[in-house]
Amino acid sequence: MALLLHSTPERREIWSRVFAEESEPFFATEGDVTDPALVTHLACWMPPKDLTRYPNLSVVIGVGAGTDHLPPLPEGVALSRTVAPGIEGMVRDWVVLAVLALHRDLPLYLDQAARGEWTVHKTLLARSRRVGIMGMGRIGTLVAQTLGALGFGVLGWSRSARPVNGVRTFGSDDLDAFLSQSDILVGLLPLTDDTRGLLNDRLFAQLPQGARLVQAGRGPQLDMDALRRALDSGQLAAAMLDVTDPEPLPGDHWAWADPRVIVTPHIASLTDAEEGAHHALAVIRAGREGAPLPGLVDRERGY
Ligand code: GLV
Repeated sequence: MALLLHSTPERREIWSRVFAEESEPFFATEGDVTDPALVTHLACWMPPKDLTRYPNLSVVIGVGAGTDHLPPLPEGVALSRTVAPGIEGMVRDWVVLAVLALHRDLPLYLDQAARGEWTVHKTLLARSRRVGIMGMGRIGTLVAQTLGALGFGVLGWSRSARPVNGVRTFGSDDLDAFLSQSDILVGLLPLTDDTRGLLNDRLFAQLPQGARLVQAGRGPQLDMDALRRALDSGQLAAAMLDVTDPEPLPGDHWAWADPRVIVTPHIASLTDAEEGAHHALAVIRAGREGAPLPGLVDRERGY
């Protein structure tokens, strides 16, 4: 029983140290594998091409929070996504940064600054701005708590309308009511058949006029042309995106040059290598003890 890592040299070094400290069998690269039958766990962002080389592979551990980019895995192989406080905290930080930036009109002021223009615009108090969070899992809940502490009115939407302390939560049937009260809409949903293309003309039309969009879910959820139309019509005032369709966003894409949009290159979270290795160790140990695997992905549900 051993874990094979498929990653960068920098991550290999850290994982090798952590696994050595914990005396867990580990192969740092495919080239190091002495006997493919020993490989029971694989940790990677994208797996190597041929997984049939490893007849005893039982779990693939995706090193990020999302696993939607992975190809289908061989029959019977479980998938775990990395659950780590660092990932959740980093995404929370980026979303709070983006909400504050859009709340305080940063795109407008950056545009003015580029021209050396000193013009002051009206602003709202945080308590007068309602933030609607789509996706109330662990990260959405953390974001809701932090924005609530900053004084924003916070609403949450999730498929299951899971109640969260102090947050008004809406479910599938209440999407319209949720959207109509979201002055800043935050996308934090996983990519599934239901969420692909969800951020489109129809959805934007249901937001209050002049709403703002923060997108930290997955690129294919957002129709970039619909975003442009909503900005041009004034239905949306501004957007901050960490994920785009496509990725990487081509250098000549309109969104880079549009002063109403701030794009960052999918950096809201970058898994800390040490935390990633510890998540993998927790998966290995849970399997050994017959306990539920941390971060186990429900393949039907898609996350
Ligand atoms: C990044 O998007 C991740 O899934 O960790």
